[in-house]
Amino acid sequence: MLNIQDVAIKYAAQPQSIVKNFSLHVAPGEICGIVGESGSGKTSIIRAVLGCLPGGGRGTDGDILFENQSLLANTPEQWRCLRGSEISLIFQDAGAMLNPIRTIGSQFVEYIRTHQAMPKKQAYALGLKMLERMQLPDGANIMRSYPFQLSGGQRQRVGIAMGMVFQPKLLLADEPTSALDVTTQAQIVRQMLQLRKQYGTAIVIVTHNIGLAAYMADKIVVMKKGCIEEQGNREQLQKTQSAYTRALLDAVPSLEGERYV
Ligand SMILES: Nc1ncnc2c1ncn2[C@@H]1O[C@H](COP(=O)(O)OP(=O)(O)O)[C@@H](O)[C@H]1O
Ligand SMILES: [Mg+2]
Repeated sequence: MLNIQDVAIKYAAQPQSIVKNFSLHVAPGEICGIVGESGSGKTSIIRAVLGCLPGGGRGTDGDILFENQSLLANTPEQWRCLRGSEISLIFQDAGAMLNPIRTIGSQFVEYIRTHQAMPKKQAYALGLKMLERMQLPDGANIMRSYPFQLSGGQRQRVGIAMGMVFQPKLLLADEPTSALDVTTQAQIVRQMLQLRKQYGTAIVIVTHNIGLAAYMADKIVVMKKGCIEEQGNREQLQKTQSAYTRALLDAVPSLEGERYV
């Protein structure tokens, strides 16, 4: 469904491409992890897929196909139809995209109604249902709250709930658990797996924690300085010949006392 073919990415301020020859194929319902040290180009790849590179960034080579259509030539109108409904993005800190002086409920309802015309009441009910799916049982209370009244884990669940409202075919998650404590991280990860099971959502998760990627992902891409160092499943990476991948593996903290790599 997502086919990234030999893509290079360049920012206006940098003379060289910061990502080169990046290719990735993601099948429906597949979970793919992109790992690598800070600055290796992970966020740039995610943003290139969604057509929202900052700083004059653009794809200079290759193609990005979503359901066999190139995304590179999309008009703003085509993006508006895709984002949020077919392809969703979850940030490291979903709280940061929430307006601090408005309740979760009013923002959630507005978000739903910008994507799909429906009465406020219906949008509210839909939002509430999604909060419950994300194990936020007292949804009505969450809806009444301001972002600062929620914990980081609760805010992140709200962000994922918003991202999943329209059951996108593809969820892009950039370090979605990095700002959270280990227990909350594990819960969020389980819920993302649950969403995949329920809706068949394909997920591309960017993380610097290769252990988390190994736990979640069917396929892992290891990035180093803008290039693919190697890719494979958990078993293949365990047998890696790459000193770089080995160092990432050795640095893995455990997820709730369990190690997956
Ligand atoms: N807005 C920008 N303008 C110029 N260069 C950028 C911009 N954003 C990121 N970069 C550069 O691109 C490279 C990769 O960054 P990034 O994709 O954020 O990596 P990662 O997410 O793996 O940490 C870095 O060298 C960074 O300096
Ligand atoms: Mg990043």
